[in-house]
Amino acid sequence: MSTTKNPVLITGGAGFIGSNLADRLASDGHDVLIFDALRRPGVERNLRWLQARHPSRISAVTADLRDERALAEAARDAKAVFHLAAQVAVTTSMVDPVEDFEVNIRGTLALLEAVRRRGRRTPVIFASTNKVYGDLADVPLELVDDAYAPVDPAIRAQGVSEARPLDFHTPYGCSKGAADQYVLDYARSFDLPTAVLRMSCIYGPRQMGTEDQGWVAHFLIRALNGEPITIYGDGRQVRDVLFVADTVQAYVSAWERIEQVKGRAFNLGGGAANAISLRQLVAHIEHLIGRKVEVSYGDWRAGDQRYYVSDTRAARQTLGLAEPTGWKRGVALLADWLRAEKGGLPEAAETPSVEAA
Ligand SMILES: NC(=O)c1ccc[n+]([C@@H]2O[C@H](COP(=O)([O-])OP(=O)(O)OC[C@H]3O[C@@H](n4cnc5c(N)ncnc54)[C@H](O)[C@@H]3O)[C@@H](O)[C@H]2O)c1
Repeated sequence: MSTTKNPVLITGGAGFIGSNLADRLASDGHDVLIFDALRRPGVERNLRWLQARHPSRISAVTADLRDERALAEAARDAKAVFHLAAQVAVTTSMVDPVEDFEVNIRGTLALLEAVRRRGRRTPVIFASTNKVYGDLADVPLELVDDAYAPVDPAIRAQGVSEARPLDFHTPYGCSKGAADQYVLDYARSFDLPTAVLRMSCIYGPRQMGTEDQGWVAHFLIRALNGEPITIYGDGRQVRDVLFVADTVQAYVSAWERIEQVKGRAFNLGGGAANAISLRQLVAHIEHLIGRKVEVSYGDWRAGDQRYYVSDTRAARQTLGLAEPTGWKRGVALLADWLRAEKGGLPEAAETPSVEAA
């Protein structure tokens, strides 16, 4: 447990995005308290890495979001809360919707209540997902260069904005969407300074991509290991990918501007300039590693969007974000990290998925 008086609390701080955020905040001079059940295989490595880099700044509690007492204790003296811990995979939520509910909805509500009861207006920033917009089946698409593209020129140019109606699909979509709405409502109903970042596909170092979540890292891990990749759907589905350092900057900016952005949700991704199909990523990986990758195709998965690209104008303008890292450069940086970590990562799983948000 922390000995620090007023740390920044990061739930899920040992995870991919959380550990990158913790590293940034500790480097900026903040004390950071990580609350993480270490449920994701391999994330204990992230925690050890953080503690070695920032021995006096990082402390950690290994506990589950469903342990309300431990959560309230961790939140008690926090000067800000970044809520990233979650049941993160659509696939898992289809197998056990009740656990998904308990972790993602009850866990979020317990955290909000713990903060509210302290009565200090502690900022809470929540990691939401593009899945709150559903499968976007009503957006007409056409194939352009082997990738889905919206027929509507406005969506094609800018992507999906926050004005898009919410439409929760899959238990994961429901639980993250409900949590997203609770976090926003705590600004309305209780004047808590809260904000929500609805992320598209985030990728980068410290991502333990598995069959269920984290497809950019997962494809790279499989390819670097000389293993085949299974794509669910036809591989022409498009996502805008955002490098993790740019993601972390958005979280930090949201905290810095919390009074300005409280009660708001922002779509956060790489935007139209970093929109790629799965096939494009595989082709680029082949180019990077200098050999062919064996690819097979499986059925589409529940709630899978053929196309999702974030309209990032609101986030970029309001949070003052710079041009994001280009996807080819970012993927090369991730490949470098994976090569350096080789041998230390969990076994690559058999069946990669694109359910990455
Ligand atoms: N990576 C993406 O592309 C993406 C996209 C959209 C939304 N998100 C959201 O961002 C957040 C972080 O995602 P990530 O990619 O870093 O995932 P991650 O799995 O690397 O990190 C999540 C962390 O939460 C921890 N955790 C899981 N269940 C827990 C529980 N019951 N109690 C306490 N800790 C628990 C895990 O051990 C892990 O360290 C999640 O809320 C996820 O839904 C991620």
